[in-house]
Amino acid sequence: MIRPVAYVAGTGRGIPAKVMSNHDFAALGLDTDHDWIVERTGIVERHIGAPGETTMSMAATASRAAMKRADVSAGEIDAIILSTATPDRLLPSTAVDLQAELGATRAAAFDISAACSGWVYGMTIAEGLISSGVVETALVVGAEKMSAIVDWQDRASCVLFGDGAGATVLKRAATADRGILSVYMRSDGSLAELLWRPSGGAKVPYAQAVLDDRSTYVKMAGREVFKHAVRSMADACDRALDAARLTGQDIDILIPHQANVRIIEATAKHANIPMDKVYVNVDRYGNTSSASIPIALDEAIERGRVASGTTALFVAFGAGFTWGSMVVRF
Ligand SMILES: CC(C)(COP(=O)(O)OP(=O)(O)OC[C@H]1O[C@@H](n2cnc3c(N)ncnc32)[C@H](O)[C@@H]1OP(=O)(O)O)[C@@H](O)C(=O)NCCC(=O)NCCS
Repeated sequence: MIRPVAYVAGTGRGIPAKVMSNHDFAALGLDTDHDWIVERTGIVERHIGAPGETTMSMAATASRAAMKRADVSAGEIDAIILSTATPDRLLPSTAVDLQAELGATRAAAFDISAACSGWVYGMTIAEGLISSGVVETALVVGAEKMSAIVDWQDRASCVLFGDGAGATVLKRAATADRGILSVYMRSDGSLAELLWRPSGGAKVPYAQAVLDDRSTYVKMAGREVFKHAVRSMADACDRALDAARLTGQDIDILIPHQANVRIIEATAKHANIPMDKVYVNVDRYGNTSSASIPIALDEAIERGRVASGTTALFVAFGAGFTWGSMVVRF
């Protein structure tokens, strides 16, 4: 395939209004403190969806903004690819709810499950659909209501996550000067149980026992996840840069998955990209899983840090484990 075949035509985000600070955990009776959270993760606050705010409603807000920026109407969208670890229900997909909400009558719509790497995976799928000729315009969304699946009694994990959605309109590239220049994706399912929800699926369905033992909530081996994240994100940066025949010095901005500022710093250091060229908003959002990169990209565009001609490196890592990266010229 000769790249670029697809370019980013527009971005948007949908963020719940409610902000929860590190200090607010005390009210839940959780034995944690602001300084611990900031020192270990860089997180100061996160947004939390209200009861009526759903994965789909956040996705719809993000999508409408992205479609407006791209000047694309609902009827022009051929595919909706929605990444989420928090579908509003298990059948059918959240993507079809979004399709109906937007009135995207010509669109195929489906969810993907790749956790925090979902936006990179989704963009790669969309690029492939465009390359195959099946799709001209795709909407790729990362949307997560993590507050619905974290264990609010587990201080080691619940402080890390937040809610939100980010959307990207991807269109067939008309010129060679902008678009996706390289992609890279990997997974290692032998490590699935380091970050997972043990119950609530078809294997161990919902029942009083799994509600009582809290095994439907996210469980995480923090230290192990941290080590793998640093290693895999470093590798992914190398692979996407190599495939684009670029080095860290050619990159104008690194937009990594926002899980932890220490992971971000280690990734940037490995890629030889100074921190003033790295977009960081984990302090304000926490980890919004697959929404984190498209939210960060949308903010970076709004703040003028990504503009026409900018070369950006995206890199993600998440449950699975899954990881991936992408170089895009805007
Ligand atoms: C979770 C994480 C912040 C924990 O930091 P850490 O330095 O590894 O800390 P540890 O897990 O070793 O815990 C150290 C101590 O802090 C305690 N602790 C855990 N969470 C705490 C909290 N919110 N507040 C206060 N203390 C806490 C632990 O109980 C432990 O206490 P102990 O030594 O008495 O047993 C870190 O491992 C991390 O960021 N991992 C990656 C998580 C991630 O990004 N997941 C998503 C990937 S997409």
